[in-house]
Amino acid sequence: MKIAVYPGSFDPITNGHIDIITRASRLVDKLIVAVVKNPSKTPLFTAGERMEMLNESVKNIKNVKTDNFMGLLVDFLKKHKADIIVKGLRPVSDFEFEYQMALMNRKLDNKMDTIFLMTSNEYAFVSSSSVREIACLGGNIKGLVPPYVEKRLKQKYASLSVEKKRQQIEVD
Ligand code: PNS
Repeated sequence: MKIAVYPGSFDPITNGHIDIITRASRLVDKLIVAVVKNPSKTPLFTAGERMEMLNESVKNIKNVKTDNFMGLLVDFLKKHKADIIVKGLRPVSDFEFEYQMALMNRKLDNKMDTIFLMTSNEYAFVSSSSVREIACLGGNIKGLVPPYVEKRLKQKYASLSVEKKRQQIEVD
C-alpha cells in the first residue's frame, strides 16, 4: 500500500493546495494531508481552524485523510507507515528550498522520498502569504481560495486590530 504525506502550514489552504491534493490522491493508495505546527511561526489561523478548512476542502476525496503534528516530518511519516512526501512546486522560486528539504529529509531517513508535482498554471502565482496579504488589505481573493476560506479570512481580519493586521502582513 502506497502511503504519502503532504505537509504544510496551510495558513490558509488555497486552491493551489487543493489542486496538488487532488492530483496526488490519484497517485497513491492513501494521502495524509498534515497541518504542521511550526513553533517558529505565528500563523494567522490556529491549527484547529486550519484543520477545519482543510477537512472541508478534502471531504469528498475518499483516500485523503488529515492530521496535524509538531516535530520532524520523517517521524510523522514513520508513525503512519508512509514513505513518500508530496510537495507542490511553483516555477523557479520554490526549487532551491524544496531541493534542500528533500535532501535533508532523505538524510534523516533514507527510506523516505519526496515527489514533486508541478503546480497547475492557474495557481503558479498563488501562495497562502499573498492570499493573506490581499485579504488583509481588502482585495479580491475569489478563485484563489474556496468560498468558505474566503469567508473565514474576512471574519478573521474583521476581528483583528490595525496593529495585529500590520504584524500579520510582516510575518513570513
Ligand atoms: O507550508 P510550508 O510552511 O511551506 O511548509 C513547510 C513544512 C511544514 C513542510 C516544513 O517546515 C516541515 O517539513 N516542517 C516539519 C519539521 C521538519 O521535519 N523539519 C526538517 C525538514 S528539513
